[in-house]
Amino acid sequence: MKIIRVKDANEGGKKAFEIFNEALNNNAQVFGLATGSTPITLYQELSKSNLDFSDKISVNLDEYVGLDADNEQSYHYFMKKNLFNAKPFKKSYVPDGSNLDEKKATSDYDKIIDENPLDLQLLGIGRNAHIGFNEPGSPFDGTTRKVALTQSTIDANKRFFEKEEDVPKFAYSMGIGSIMKSKKILLIAYGEDKAEAIANTINGPVTEEVPSSILQNHPDVTIIIDEAAASKL
Ligand code: GLP
Repeated sequence: MKIIRVKDANEGGKKAFEIFNEALNNNAQVFGLATGSTPITLYQELSKSNLDFSDKISVNLDEYVGLDADNEQSYHYFMKKNLFNAKPFKKSYVPDGSNLDEKKATSDYDKIIDENPLDLQLLGIGRNAHIGFNEPGSPFDGTTRKVALTQSTIDANKRFFEKEEDVPKFAYSMGIGSIMKSKKILLIAYGEDKAEAIANTINGPVTEEVPSSILQNHPDVTIIIDEAAASKL
């Protein structure tokens, strides 16, 4: 694992931008993208740059079940607002949260992932070390699944909703097995409340109880962290 320490999210966004730029120069075609507050400074850098993704593919990690693409809390909407409006891709895939047929929604997404092998997968991390929405206990060889969000994740994400009851309880998430197939992985974490998850990711045992710990077994992982997220290393 390559660890890059940065001062804050602004510097982290610039470092992450360099990695995206390098991937483009190395002819990456498929970019795995993430939501949450963490990638925002990267998306700002990409949005104001002259990089061109108009012949590239993006594949997002996850989406809430029950929210359609126009819902302002959906990850579809988040991606449009924070990146795709400024930087369109040839084709952008996000799991279809409006499809309540779990089997169809997940197998359709697996087909998309199989047809578009990931060159670079961007990851944030949950306080409990979840990646995508793969909560502790998720299988390391998993493909796209419907997952029940843990209370810790609901608590962390309720800030984006008017009331806690509005936070969806389920999501469709790319599985850890699919994430691990990406040629390159970039994980970013900022802030004190990610410090324990980061310490466990880098130094802890590889266990399904710490979903991100599997990254220790991937040959090409870069982790960008600020001082607060690095404070338990
Ligand atoms: C959500 C997303 C994850 C993200 C995590 C952390 O649960 N499904 O992909 O990494 O939140 O979010 P934040 O970056 O806002 O801390």
